[in-house]
This record gives sequence, C-alpha cells and structure tokens, in this order.
Amino acid sequence: MTSESNAAAPPIVIFDTTLRDGEQSPGASMNLQEKMEVAHALALLGVNIVEAGFPIASPGDFEAVREIASQIHGPTICGLARCSDADIDRAWEALKHGKQTRIHVFLATSAIHREFKLRMTREEIIRRAVAGVKRAVSYCDDVEFSPEDAARTESDFLCEVVEAAIAAGATTVNIPDTVGYATPTHMGGVIANLKNRVPNIDKAVISVHCHNDLGLAVANSLAAVENGAGQIECTINGIGERAGNCSLEEVVMALRTRSDYYGRSTSIQTERLVPTSRLVASVTGIRVQRNKAIVGRNAFAHEAGIHQDGMLKEPSTYEIMRPEDVGFSKTDLVLGKHSGRAALADRAKALGYRLSGEQLQTVFEEFKVLADKKKEIYDGDIAALIDQQLNQAPQQEWTLESFSAHCGNNQPPQVKLTLRRGDQTFTEETSEGDGPIDAAFWAVEKITEVPITCKAFRVRSASLGRDAQGEATLEVEHEGQVFRGRGVSTDTIEATIKALLNAINRIAFTKECKEAAAGETESPAASG
Ligand code: KIV
Ligand code: ZN
Repeated sequence: MTSESNAAAPPIVIFDTTLRDGEQSPGASMNLQEKMEVAHALALLGVNIVEAGFPIASPGDFEAVREIASQIHGPTICGLARCSDADIDRAWEALKHGKQTRIHVFLATSAIHREFKLRMTREEIIRRAVAGVKRAVSYCDDVEFSPEDAARTESDFLCEVVEAAIAAGATTVNIPDTVGYATPTHMGGVIANLKNRVPNIDKAVISVHCHNDLGLAVANSLAAVENGAGQIECTINGIGERAGNCSLEEVVMALRTRSDYYGRSTSIQTERLVPTSRLVASVTGIRVQRNKAIVGRNAFAHEAGIHQDGMLKEPSTYEIMRPEDVGFSKTDLVLGKHSGRAALADRAKALGYRLSGEQLQTVFEEFKVLADKKKEIYDGDIAALIDQQLNQAPQQEWTLESFSAHCGNNQPPQVKLTLRRGDQTFTEETSEGDGPIDAAFWAVEKITEVPITCKAFRVRSASLGRDAQGEATLEVEHEGQVFRGRGVSTDTIEATIKALLNAINRIAFTKECKEAAAGETESPAASG
C-alpha cells in the first residue's frame, strides 16, 4: 500500500540516511553484510534515496557505498563528502559504478561554526561551497548541497549560500538543523524565507534534515514541508547522532494519515515499515522503545477497558491507522512442530528478513529444536531466532557444548560449562559469583581467557506465554572497546551464555582483522 493523497502536488522525496547519519549513532555501527541487508530492505520499502555512507571516513564506509551503489537498484544511491577535492573524488570513486547516484556535499555556514570550527570568512565559505558543488557536478548530474547548521545560520547569509550553490549546479539544497535547535515555526520560517528570497530556488528541490535533540525532528520536518520542502531526510527508528534524526516511519505515517491536511504522498510501501524497523533494530542492537509511535510494540495495544469496548464496536473509535497498514501482522500465532522450511522462509520474509539458503537452514534447525520444546511458535520467537543468527560473528570461534546450573537462595551457585573451539572442548566448574548468571560469566571468562567488563545486560521475553524464549542482550568492554552479544533460548541462563559467546566471538574476529591489517601494512617495509 502506498501513501495516498488527493492533491496534485508531487510526492515528497524520502531520503533515508540510516546507513550514514543513523550509523553515526553511538553503538550502531554495522558491518558490510549488515549494511547490504539494510540497503535491500530500504529499496523494498520504497525510499527514493539511500545515503549509503561517507566514503572518505573509513575504508569500511567506502566499501559499503561502492557495494550498495553497484548492487542495489531502484533508489538513488548517495555518498557524503565535505567540500574538498579529496572527499568528493573519493565519494565518486565509490559511487561511479552505480546506475543512479548522487554526491552530497556539505559545509558549515553558521557564525559559530565559521568562527570556531572552520575559521573561515563568509566569502571563503561561499567560494569553498561553490568549488565543492562544481567539482561534484563534474562527476554526476545529481548533486545535493547542505549548509551544515543552517537552522542557526543568519538568514541573509543562508540565502546567499543557497543561491550560489544552486547557481553552481546543486539540484537539491538540504537545510539541516544539525543540533536539533529549531522549533516548527522557526523551521517553517527558514524554508519560507528561502522560497521567497532566493531568486533561483525553483531550480532545486528544497530538502530538510532535522535532528531530534528537543524531540521536534518530525514536527520540524512537517513544518518544512508545509512551507515548500520537497524532500525529507530521515532514518529508520529515528536513529542517529545524539537523540537521533527525524524518524522515517513517523513522518511518512503523519503525511499519509493526515493527507487531508498536507496533501502530499510518498512512495513508501507502508506495510514494510515494521519489518524494516525490526531489521534495523536487530542489526544495530538499538531496540525500539515499546511506546514508540508506529513501530513500537505497544503502538496499537489498547489497554483501557473503555478503549477495548470502543474498538470492538468500531475500530476507528480509537484507531487512526490500522496495524496491518504499517506491517504488524494480524495473526501472531504462526507455526508449529509440523511446519516446513518453506513456511518458515515465508514467515521470515513477511517479518522483514532476507536470509541466505545457509542462514535459513540454520534457523530451520533451531526452529525444529524449539518446536519440540514449545507447542506454539509466535512471530516473536521466529524473529528472535533469526536475530540471533544474523548477529553471529562472521567466525564462530567458541560455541556452547553443554551446561548445567544449580542454584537456590541458601546455597552458592554452581555452574558446569563445556565450550567447543574447533575440535577441542573445554570444561569449567565454578561456584563463584552472586548467582547462576554471574557464575556463567566467570566460567566463560576462565575458559576463553578473554577478560570482559559487563556494561549492559538485559533479558526479555521474545514472545508470549511462560514457555516463551528469553532473549539476552549484552554489551561488554574489552581493551577499551564495546562489543554487543545476543542469544536466545527457552532457558535464560543458556541465552546469557550464548550472548556472551556471541560477544567473545566478535572480539576474536575484530582482533584477527586488526592483526591481518597490521600484517598487510608491515609487509612492504619488511620486504623493502
Ligand atoms: O546534521 C547535519 O548537518 C548533517 C549534514 C551532513 C547534512 O548530517
Ligand atoms: Zn545530520
């Protein structure tokens, strides 16, 4: 289903920056495989532009932009660059094999950034912006220019920069509220001012890019649309720097639900919103709060008796959107012991996951084990099994062979743990710790010899009922770096051990990559 509108005004362009600004959010970094998954999901969701990364920022970002540009078709693929030759050349190097690409150049314009960050005069800013846009245009006809911190830029100067960028060839001018300072009236005024005072403004699309520091990113983006913006920059689940960016699902559903007011449509397949949100939460480890609008678990749950009564009589009494319009399935109870691989594949697809044949096979094997323990398998159980699979470190150095735990309120916990690495097994028995979970941490650390400090630890139920699977998620610190881990099981101690091993395998993999990179950089010197 696509957002509907009666009006003739063109659809609002949805520019997704989950893989760039979203990935900058603390703890949200994704590996290449995860970025590809998300880029595929964004294409299925129907976004118009995918900002895939900032190619000069790191070799990983460069590779992600290159792979996404060459493999993902449908949306335009965009790469970010500062207004410098090196940045722009690198961005184009990453994008050049794509079918439809955009270079996005940015330069700060506010007095505070000019004076303290860039130490540049207004004239220098204009010169640098124009040079950046022209260089980008020499490679690609689709060029976006962003005056960073535009919302705090003097309005005369903002008009001057925007006019110069359009004259130099920018086809989109993006107006960021970089620090989330604006209010709706303020943001609407900034856009109206540009519309009224920049003589060549009709030659470019006006875009808006709002951060959520005051919780106003969606409201500010909508105010910008009311005043002439034709593109909204946003992220799935609103992830991004600090308090995040404008949330894609919220802004799209606001436009759709209130099309009577805004009169603008989007190309978003709204029933893909929940699956895409789940995928992003699972690859970034940033969970969606229960009461989050549109995609939160409680977004359509009616608790009060009076509401439930109204809903039964007529859903529209308390419901402004239908859960199925955003991708919540109507029936949650899905599979059982006799369900086959095809049914599981179908369900996984409907939930928003894209699994390789090998991943599907592993999930299917785990599903069968679970179906023996649990009669009814819910969407939440399937999502938890798949999340666990997608969160595996690329190499499974350590796996759980077996464990037993004894505990009680008047006795020390006892855990016996056997782990496997390659064809060797290692066993540890311990009664250290405050309880069986703490004891399991001790045993894992002793066997693997990887010292860790637990920074966050959570167990939640993945679905319904007292036989529901427990999903353990944790963050551990090792040598100054934080690693995530996730594990699921109907036994919460087992789920915790799996989550710990998941984190430890990530630590081992990161070490291997670092050692390999050090080897590569050392070898020329050694041979010279
Ligand atoms: O918030 C910001 O100003 C940005 C720009 C690079 C568009 O992310
Ligand atoms: Zn931003």
